[in-house]
Amino acid sequence: MKGRHLLRLTDLSAADIYRILDKAVELKRQRVGSLLMGKKLALLFQKPSLRTRVSFDVAMTELGGHAIYLSPAEVGLGQRESAADVARVLSRYVDCITARTFRQQDVDELAAYASVPVINALSDEEHPCQVLADLLTIFEKKGKLKGLALAYIGDANNVATSLMFGAALTGMGFRIASPAGYGPAAHCLGKARQLAGQSGADILVTDDIRQVVRDADVLYTDVWTSMGQEEETARRREAFAGYQVNREMVALAKKEALVLHDLPAHKGEEITDDIFEQFQSAIFDQAENRLHAQKAVLALLMGG
Ligand code: CP
Ligand code: NVA
Repeated sequence: MKGRHLLRLTDLSAADIYRILDKAVELKRQRVGSLLMGKKLALLFQKPSLRTRVSFDVAMTELGGHAIYLSPAEVGLGQRESAADVARVLSRYVDCITARTFRQQDVDELAAYASVPVINALSDEEHPCQVLADLLTIFEKKGKLKGLALAYIGDANNVATSLMFGAALTGMGFRIASPAGYGPAAHCLGKARQLAGQSGADILVTDDIRQVVRDADVLYTDVWTSMGQEEETARRREAFAGYQVNREMVALAKKEALVLHDLPAHKGEEITDDIFEQFQSAIFDQAENRLHAQKAVLALLMGG
């Protein structure tokens, strides 16, 4: 995988995903090493972050490398300087670029002009690093991915889109319940169904929450309003009312079902406080796995 970009989950094959998960398990056991000794990573962020920023920084430190955080105010991607020029400059200094952008096309442009690997650290369309950590968490807790049923409740956002592709690639069933107008984009669904045809995954898109959670192995949710959509908050609160992981929904899922959330959570909206606390151990394992999954990605892309 050396030298490749990770812009979308579909940049990976099922074999790539399992390679990343294997490497992540190995690096989780042996946390500190020198695989990326002397390597530098730029962290280019247009939006706030806790998990992504800290886990990438710690990942580089634990692998013997170094991370440089660049805030929106410092770089002004697309305003002070074009993504194309930022990519060409950073490629002269660092070995890899991680970017959190408002628009997927900005991370794509960085990749088109960079001579080092570019990793999407969340855009409006996808969040592949999150989903690699999610797959690792599900694999650790359920012992497999293929054949499980994951129910996603809420907005078909960046996280949901990458999850749908992750499920489609690995053969995990993906069922999503969203209110009308907030379901997956037709082109994403088409791509996911095509991949699912090869892996044997079932994909179900509906507005009926009960239909997706019934007998599910994993319940997953994310915020109703993502970063960059703040002005739609009131409209979204109305549209998503009831699209919540709560006691009633958990009771419909399998007895041993997991509840996951990528965080930050808006408790009382997409998930109730009591269900969040009941599953907090898995949710924070999931957050921890950001570190291990990203170490694997960095080691494989930088060829350490
Ligand atoms: N889940 C996630 O990406 O969190 P941050 O926005 O805090 O990085
Ligand atoms: N969908 C959320 C995920 C945050 C990690 C957002 O884009 O704000």
